[in-house]
Amino acid sequence: MIKVCRRTTFNSAHRLLNLNWSDEKNLEIFGKCNSPNYHGHNYTLETWLEGDIDPETGYVIDLGILKAIIKEEVEDPFDHRNLNLDVPEFKELNPTAENISIVIYRKLKKRLPQFKMMVRLYETQNNFVEYTEDY
Ligand code: NI
Repeated sequence: MIKVCRRTTFNSAHRLLNLNWSDEKNLEIFGKCNSPNYHGHNYTLETWLEGDIDPETGYVIDLGILKAIIKEEVEDPFDHRNLNLDVPEFKELNPTAENISIVIYRKLKKRLPQFKMMVRLYETQNNFVEYTEDY
């Protein structure tokens, strides 16, 4: 078993809220992350792929190909954007690190179905989540 990883960074604004709750309850549960004027994070994404080594190239995947797919699916739509307002997936989905990682996983997996995949998303240096549907 061999895994390869591409690290990517992007900067996005978000606001945590549950649309079914009152303003008071949202503030109570999400605190300053519910701030109405949004706040930003410098996200770091690790995209891990597991597969067989191609005997002709010696690669699991050409990381240039993975880089281009991540740019299209994640960087272009998310970087320097407001996740709540600019990204359709979060119109009604609370943009926590957990939910962002699931959205990213599903977008990338659609492009790379032949690999087992895991994504790890750092919202800060010390807070991060992992998501996969493959294990
Ligand atoms: Ni936040």
